[in-house]
Parts: sequence; structure tokens; C-alpha cells
Amino acid sequence: MKTFYATTPIYYVNDLPHIGHIYTTVVTDVLTRYHRLVGEKTRYLTGTDEHGQNIERAAAAQGIAPIELANQVVARYHELWRTFDIAHDDFIRTTEPRHRRGVEEIVRRIEASGDLYLDRHEGWYCASCEAFYTEKELVDGKCPVHEKPAAWQSEENVFFRLSKYAKPLLETYRTRPDFVRPENRRAEVMSFVEAGLKDISVSRTNVKWGVPFPGRPGHVVYVWLDALSNYVTALGFGSEDDALYREFWLNAEGRRVHLIGKDILRFHAVYWPAFLLSAGLPLPTSVWAHGWWLRDAKKMSKSVGNVVRPDALVRDFGPDALRYFLMREMAFGQDASFSDQAFLERYNADLANDLGNTVSRISALCRQAFGTSPPEPCEENEIIAAWGRARQDYRTAMDDFAFHRGLETIWRFLSEINGYVVSREPWKVLKDEGRSGRVSRILYAASEGVRLAAGLLWPFMPSTSRKIFALLGAAPEDPKLADLEWGRLPTGAAIAPAEALFPRVDTAAYFAAKEESAMTDTPAAPESDGRISIQDFQRVQLVTGRVVEAERVPKSNKLVRLQVDLGSERRQVVAGIAAQYEPEALVGRNVVIVANLKPAKLMGVESDGMVLAATVGEAGEPSLLEVAADVPPGSTVK
Ligand code: MSP
Repeated sequence: MKTFYATTPIYYVNDLPHIGHIYTTVVTDVLTRYHRLVGEKTRYLTGTDEHGQNIERAAAAQGIAPIELANQVVARYHELWRTFDIAHDDFIRTTEPRHRRGVEEIVRRIEASGDLYLDRHEGWYCASCEAFYTEKELVDGKCPVHEKPAAWQSEENVFFRLSKYAKPLLETYRTRPDFVRPENRRAEVMSFVEAGLKDISVSRTNVKWGVPFPGRPGHVVYVWLDALSNYVTALGFGSEDDALYREFWLNAEGRRVHLIGKDILRFHAVYWPAFLLSAGLPLPTSVWAHGWWLRDAKKMSKSVGNVVRPDALVRDFGPDALRYFLMREMAFGQDASFSDQAFLERYNADLANDLGNTVSRISALCRQAFGTSPPEPCEENEIIAAWGRARQDYRTAMDDFAFHRGLETIWRFLSEINGYVVSREPWKVLKDEGRSGRVSRILYAASEGVRLAAGLLWPFMPSTSRKIFALLGAAPEDPKLADLEWGRLPTGAAIAPAEALFPRVDTAAYFAAKEESAMTDTPAAPESDGRISIQDFQRVQLVTGRVVEAERVPKSNKLVRLQVDLGSERRQVVAGIAAQYEPEALVGRNVVIVANLKPAKLMGVESDGMVLAATVGEAGEPSLLEVAADVPPGSTVK
């Protein structure tokens, strides 16, 4: 049987979800619902990536165990996916025993292929990616994704013979053009592999929070090998009951699609298939990479500090409006910018006007004319032909992952229905002829058109689609494309008074209210004696750092630009201490840094953190807070 298995990446639990994570999850939801609509048996997997150094560190900064941090963030993910009507069938956490068993089995199989060996590993390491880069890949010594300085790292690791798989991988890209999508990403991956593949390290000894590496005491499995395995461990690979694995992964007629952001393409299109080939498991059918949501021309991310959290928009406009915006505004595969302004424009134009008004006008006319839906079904060639085109174009777009075009098709059809109603003027006919057959015919064709449009809309906006069905007196279940045939609208069903699906928003008033609440929103008041709780204090992440470079900020008397080694990364921090300290005298000092401060620009120079100093005397002259020379950089201060 034809099956369809779709996955999102599993999300790190050191960050709360933002628009970027929601996008990948909504796209996968739309895609899986679409395959359900066309009648396939589907399975949708999402989950969380809970091991590794970043999580270990984020938890330590809050003074809690990694699993506690994971539990808190996972609860937030569950809540959010419920809010967004995400219909996933499973949610895997990499800390679950079923996952660990599967990872161990994959590692054992890779080992059995003779693809693992022990060696010393040295290289430039980006702690945020948890990955090594070659000198050439760095941009000005910084990680190309996070734009943070990479740190030199050296340790004994288990290596995987990735080099052995360059040929079979290239063969796969060549013979299966759908393996990496869209086309520009496929070309990118091919040229990366054509340039030659180096073996990669797949274990860590400096990290404790992970799956112990089978047969290699002291090592844990590299977080990416651990994480990627989720796509099969969640199906029961490596456990006694592997029925789902057989149904969705081994099935020759099944499709297996990974949806990801372009930043994690290499892991999915190169490493993952190589691991699978080595372990003797089938490959996924496709890896589809989407672009980034940008804000101020930069990728939205926690480390840049420019993320949009969905809470206010969902509260004010409902989940479907945001689902619509994300799917309509971004051409799948390309980058797009997020702004409240663009969101509100689309909300008013596309949702309040095109969709909401069309639906409420037609249902109100039916109610006015008959008190119910129209009495008689009819054939109306103009709308039937428009429907035939819409259905065809929709399928083509959706099969090509061009979701924005899928939506355009629905909107074109709605506008055709609208044009039909306006040109037939049923309100006039009603006045002239009363409840005539002609009125019934126009309203039937329009209502039936809207019902069919609501069917196509279901993958994108499930609750709106159901509301429209209900409003027309049609059964509000999960629709199937096969049932979206002309003439199935039940006639004579009671029609409820039309509620506005998307009430129009006064954009200027919305922004004014938002500004006002931002001004009056004060942070939670401290206890009356001014004391804060330990949890409040733990929100500030303090770590030790060693100054490795220092220079004056040009044209400033006060500011020095410091490069500070925080153990796993280097940070640029600007400090107002130039009047008291010569830059040369700062190098080598062990200082204390606020590591989770939002980055800021001082005299045009980016500062990613803050150096602590005591302020002395009336003038508040800074005196650096220093720690003993033998305290390693990156130690937590609490
Ligand atoms: N844990 C890894 C994935 C392991 S999959 C075996 C990871 N997690 S993540 O939480 O950092 O990111 C998950 C997904 O969110 C990625 O697909 C990433 O591209 C996406 N997004 C995060 N920020 C984004 C934007 N600003 N825009 C669009 N998507 C981006 O990577």
C-alpha cells in the first residue's frame, strides 16, 4: 500500500519555539494533511533533540539537570502544537529508551560494516552547530551559520568512514533527482560531495549528556548521529515491535520525506544517507530544504536575538491566520521576511476580505432567501469548469511542494466564485422573482464552490475549513479529495447566521495598542523588600572567560573591544573600561561575563555579552572582576 511518512527536524530544547520552528512544523502538517486528503496512509513525526553540549550547558546555567530543562521545554512544544492544530502521529524525545535502543542498534550495524575507527580529532569547532569546520569553510574565522568564532578543539574520537560513501552518494543524487530538493540545494550538496568527503568523528568524550557509545567506554554518541536516527527509532527500529518501521520505512511503495531548514542540509543529505548505507538500511525518498525566516535581513535565531514568538499573534488572530501567513508568504525553498505589517496586510486582504467576506456573503444570502442552503442541486458549467482547473492546479502545486501556489489556486477559485455571484446579482433576482429556481441555482453553485474550496483549504487551515463546512450545512469531517465532487452539498440543511471568520483589523489602532502595552508592560515586580528569587538570579548566565585580544574602539575614549575565550567559543564583547585599562594589559586576564545578554551595538561595534566590573567611588570607575588564573574559561559562576 502507498504510504507517506513525513518528518520535521527534532528541535533543540535549549530554546523555546519561535516562528522558524513553527514554520517547519506547519509545512510538514500541511504536507501530511494533503496526502491524507488524497487518500494515502500517512504518518507524521516530530520531536525533540535533547542531548549534547549545548543542552548540558543551558541546563547548567539555570542550575537544573538537563532532563529537567528538556521536560520544561517539551511541555511548551506540546502546548504549542496543540494550539496550532498540528496533527502529528508521534513525538519522539531522544532521551526515551526506545530511541536509545535504536541508536545502539544503528551504531552496532555501522561498526559491523567496519566503518568505525579510533583517532585523534582536531579542528575548528562551532559549539552552536556542535560540528567541526575546515579552515576554508570559516568566514573570517567564524562559523558560517552562527557567525560566531570557532574554537580549536582536540580529542580522541570514534571516526566514521564517510569518505567511503562519496561515490554511492553521488550515484544516489544523480540517479534520484528527487533525493535532495529543491534543485539548487541538490546542486549545492553535489558540489560539496564532489569536492571530496573527509571521515567525521561520531563520538565525544568531553560531553557526558548523550547515548553511551556501544563498546567504547567514556564516549557518547555524537549528537547528530544520535538525532538523525530518530527518523527510524520512532518507527520502532531496533525494538521488538517494528511493525511501523516495516510499514513506513521498508515498504517499497512508501515515500519517506524529511522536511528541514537549509542550515541542516548537509547533515540530512550527506551524513544521514551515509549512516544508513553503512547500516544497510533504505534511504529516505526525499530531503526537502526550506529557506529561512529573516528579520532585518538576518536569520531569525536565538543567538542573534531577533526571534518572533508566536504568542501575541495567535492570541489576537488565531492559529489559522498564522498558518496561512507562513504558508502564503514564503515560497517554499526561498527566504522570506517576517513583519507584523505584512501579516496584518495579508490578514485583512486575503482572510478578512477574500475568504471571510465571500463565505459570509454567500451563506447570508442562502439564509435570507431560503432560511437554509439552496433547495435544488444544479450543474453550473462556469463554476464546474473553474473547479476542475483549481483542483488540477492545486494538485500540481502541492505535489511540487509549492504550497504558496496551492493557496493561490484556492484564492483564484474563490475570486471566480465571487465574480460569478457579483455578475448574477442574486439579491436583485430575489427581489424581482422571490425564491425562484434561478436564485436557488446561483446560490447552489456559489455554495458548492465554497464547499469545494474549503476542502482544498483543509490541509492549510483545518479549523477554518471545518467552520465553512459547518456553515454550509455540510459534514465537517476530514475531507477526502475523492469526495470533493460537484453536487454533494446537502441541500436544505439549516444555515446558521454567518459569523465573521476573520473580523477586519484596524491596523493603525492595532499598532498603537501594541506600543502602548509595550510601554506600560513592566517586568514582574520584585517582592516588596526588593529581593528576587533564586530562579530570577539563575536567569542570568554568568561564566568565566579569558581575554585573548583587546583593542580600543576607534573614536571612543571609553570603549575597548575584547575577544574573550569562553572555552567552547569566542565572544566579542565591548566594555567601557578604556580610561582605566590599557588594552595590552587586559590580554590574559580571567574575567566574568554575562553570557546570555541580548547582543547590542556600541559605537557601531557588536557586543555579545558583558564584562562585570565593580564601580568605584562617586565617578563609578570600573574595576574589573577577576577570577584566579587557574579557573578554566567557560566555568559557570553562581
Ligand atoms: N536539533 C537540530 C535538528 C536535528 S534533526 C535530526 C536542529 N534543531 S533547531 O531547533 O535548531 O532547528 C530546527 C529547525 O528549525 C531547522 O529546520 C531550522 O532550519 C529551523 N529554523 C530555525 N530557525 C529558522 C528560521 N529563522 N527560519 C526558518 N527555519 C529555521 O537544528
